[in-house]
Amino acid sequence: MNILLCGGAGFIGTHTIIELDKAGHSVVVVDNFFNSKPEALKRVSELIGKEVKCYNADVRDRDAMEKIFGENQFDAVIHYAGLKSVGESVAKPLEYYENNMVATFVLVDVMRKHGCKNIIFSSSATVYGDPAMIPITEECPKGYCTNPYGQTKWMLEEVLKDVHHADPEWNVVLLRYFNPIGAHPSGKIGEDPNGIPNNLMPYITQVAVGKREELGVFGNDYDTPDGTGVRDYIHVCDLAAGHVCALKAIERNCGLAVYNLGTGHGYSVLDVVKAFEKANGIKIKYSIKPRRAGDIATCYCNPAKAKAELGWEAHYGIEEMCRDSWNWQKNNPNGYED
Ligand code: UFG
Repeated sequence: MNILLCGGAGFIGTHTIIELDKAGHSVVVVDNFFNSKPEALKRVSELIGKEVKCYNADVRDRDAMEKIFGENQFDAVIHYAGLKSVGESVAKPLEYYENNMVATFVLVDVMRKHGCKNIIFSSSATVYGDPAMIPITEECPKGYCTNPYGQTKWMLEEVLKDVHHADPEWNVVLLRYFNPIGAHPSGKIGEDPNGIPNNLMPYITQVAVGKREELGVFGNDYDTPDGTGVRDYIHVCDLAAGHVCALKAIERNCGLAVYNLGTGHGYSVLDVVKAFEKANGIKIKYSIKPRRAGDIATCYCNPAKAKAELGWEAHYGIEEMCRDSWNWQKNNPNGYED
C-alpha cells in the first residue's frame, strides 16, 4: 500500500515508517515540523536505505493537501498530526482545538474528494479520563477528559465514527496509545521534545545525560503500591508495529474498529526509575514533588482485543524500553540538533 503519514516526522511517525517499510509498504510524509525535525526523516532514510518523500506543509492548509493528493495515489492515511502537550493545552485551549480539529476536518474532506477512505487515527488513553475500570478495555466509559488535548482526541474519534456511519465505505481504525517510550535500537531516532520534557522518560534520560539536575516525582500519595503514578509504558517500536497490523485490518475492510495499544502491565514512576538504573547502570537522582494537576493514579490497559483481532501484541519489556531510550539519548544528547 502507499500510505500518507500526517505528522510522520514525529516520534511515533518515524518509527512507524521503518515498520511500514519492513512490511513492504511505501510512505509519503506531510509534516509542518512544528514539533519535529527534518533531520529525523534523514535518519530514517539512512536506516531504510531509501529516500522518504516528504512535504513540508500544514495539514490545515487545504491547498497544500489538495496538491499532495493530486500528485500521489494513497491507499490509506495514518494521522498523527496535532499538538500533544496536556499541560500546554490547558493554557492554550483555542490553539489546541483549532489545530487538532481543523487539521482532521481538512484531511478527511480532501481524502473523501480523492476517493481515499481508509484512515488510522492516533488516539490516546486520555479518552478514558480517570478510568472507570482497570485494566482498561475499549468499552470503558470515555469522554470525560480533564484537558483540551484529550477533548480533541475524544471529539475526533466521534467525528470519524460519524464519517464511517454516514458512508460505510470508510475504514476507520482508532488506535488508543498508552505511554510510548523507548527508541529504535539503532539509537539513530528517538523522542526529541522541545524545551523541558513534560513526560517521564525523556526527563529521566535528560537527568542521566546531565542536562537536568534531578527528576521530580509528581506525588507519592496515590492509591498505588508505592504511592507514585502507574502507567502502561509501551516500546515505540511495538506501537509502530501496531499500525502495520491496523493496515491489514483495513485491507480486510474492517469498517470502524477501535483498539488499545499497550502492554497490559502497569509500572509506577519509581518502578521506571529502578528499571532504568538497572538496565543502564546509572543512578537517577530524584525527589518527591507535589502531585501534578490533572494526573490520575493508575492507567493500564487490557490489550486482548488487539491481540485477538489484529494479531498484535507488545514484545519489548520495561528494561528494553529503558535501554533503548538511553541508547538514543546518550548518542544524541541534544536530540536531532548537532
Ligand atoms: N511524572 C513524574 N515526573 C515527571 C514527568 C512525569 O513523576 O517529570 C509522572 C507522572 O505524574 C505520571 C507518570 O510519570 O504518573 C507518567 O507521566 P507522563 O507525563 O510521561 O505521561 P502521562 O501518563 O501523564 O501522559 C501520557 C501522554 C499524554 C496522554 C496520556 C494518556 O503524554 O499525551 O499519557 O493517558 F494523553
